[in-house]
Amino acid sequence: MTAAPPAIRARLMTDSVLRFPAGFVWGAATSSYQIEGAIDADGRGPSIWDTFCRRPGAIADASDGAVACDHYHRAADDVAMMAALGLKAYRFSVAWPRVLPAGRGAVNARGLDFYDRLVDQLVAAGITPWATLYHWDLPQALQDEGGWPVRATAEAFVEYAHVVATRLGDRVKHWITHNEPWCASVLGHLEGVHAPGIKSPQAHLASSHHLLLSHGLAVPVIRAAAPGSQVGITLNLVPAEPASPSEADRLATMRFDGWFNRWYLDPLVGRGYPQDLLEAYRSEGYIDDWSFVRPGDLDAMAAPTDFLGINYYTRGIIRSDRVPEAENAPRTVERVGVPTDMDWEVYPEGLRSLLVRVHQDYGFKAIHITENGAAYATGPDASGRVADHDRLAYLDGHLQACHAAIAAGVPLAGYFAWSLLDNFEWAYGYEKRFGLVWVDYETQARTPKDSALWYRDVIARGGP
Ligand code: FCB
Repeated sequence: MTAAPPAIRARLMTDSVLRFPAGFVWGAATSSYQIEGAIDADGRGPSIWDTFCRRPGAIADASDGAVACDHYHRAADDVAMMAALGLKAYRFSVAWPRVLPAGRGAVNARGLDFYDRLVDQLVAAGITPWATLYHWDLPQALQDEGGWPVRATAEAFVEYAHVVATRLGDRVKHWITHNEPWCASVLGHLEGVHAPGIKSPQAHLASSHHLLLSHGLAVPVIRAAAPGSQVGITLNLVPAEPASPSEADRLATMRFDGWFNRWYLDPLVGRGYPQDLLEAYRSEGYIDDWSFVRPGDLDAMAAPTDFLGINYYTRGIIRSDRVPEAENAPRTVERVGVPTDMDWEVYPEGLRSLLVRVHQDYGFKAIHITENGAAYATGPDASGRVADHDRLAYLDGHLQACHAAIAAGVPLAGYFAWSLLDNFEWAYGYEKRFGLVWVDYETQARTPKDSALWYRDVIARGGP
């Protein structure tokens, strides 16, 4: 057996448990396209990810989600495994193209039945279901009509939200409208590295607008269909620090923060889009058509929510690209430690400071960490054990950061590790493994890694 590194061993042997508040939500997260497979089963329609994966060069290992973890056929076993790991909550996403294969109109009962069974299984196992409505698998039929850059997609989302909440709302009391609108709009519509693979500033800003609008329009619809629910949205936020104290780096950091964080946070609390970014976009002529912003939209986006979901992985150290390196001040902030397999710096302090800042600046009623985790390739040793102490240390550090944020007064009420299973990591295919549980893609065998067993004990103790 591989021995744990000294720092982890010391931590595992200490008696002092950092206790979290009673009722703290301990969970793990996944998403439909990344785990379900079964893309042709039971009347599912095609999604933009099925299409995007066929584009040559789009996915690092030329794979797709056609089989993935075959969770669609193994959900009952997966729920049993979650129960054995002591999970109190499970965040999954519903695949829109299973429910409404054409994006709107005819409901595919068999697709909805899958989630109905999943929810029943979770509830029977004492695991609280948290449903995300959109984790990036838009029905291809809606993309063919323009996708998120067109307003009709926001309207279709509200119809879809109504259908799902009506069916599951008697048992699902925690709803997340969107997962990471920054990724959907920037990676999907500006950088073109995610589906639908568009590279256009106009499509980027129009899609982000319609994503946020559809969130706001769906919130009251979900509440009405699922009485007594808590409804929120999940943003991926990156705390940013200037690489040096120079004015150029300070301004670049403000711009990054506006682009990455405030563009999504501000409208949610009724402040509209950040003025500094709007002015910059206008003066630079970034796009020429703002007609997608209609009267009343910004009010709709600010529909009151019950919580903010935050996905945190790493921080940003920002260097201006507007002054030549030689003319800028020397860097004073550098990445620390060894990065994960995504080349993301491991920086738990960023999570603590982010939580404190979001609480102070925005005052959401509650915050949940809806994703946090790390890609490490560590696989089974000769005995079959997966000694992923790098992941265990990552999770431990970030839970300590959560604890510190709570001690500082942040209303942090839950934590979902990303991810329950190794899975299809979008443009990286199966090369990056984020799971608490190892998946052998040849046999579909699941093996809880050391991090999963450690997390089980954390949950049982009420803290790391
Ligand atoms: C987040 C996504 C999730 C997964 C993790 C690593 O941006 O929400 O699906 O890809 O990153």
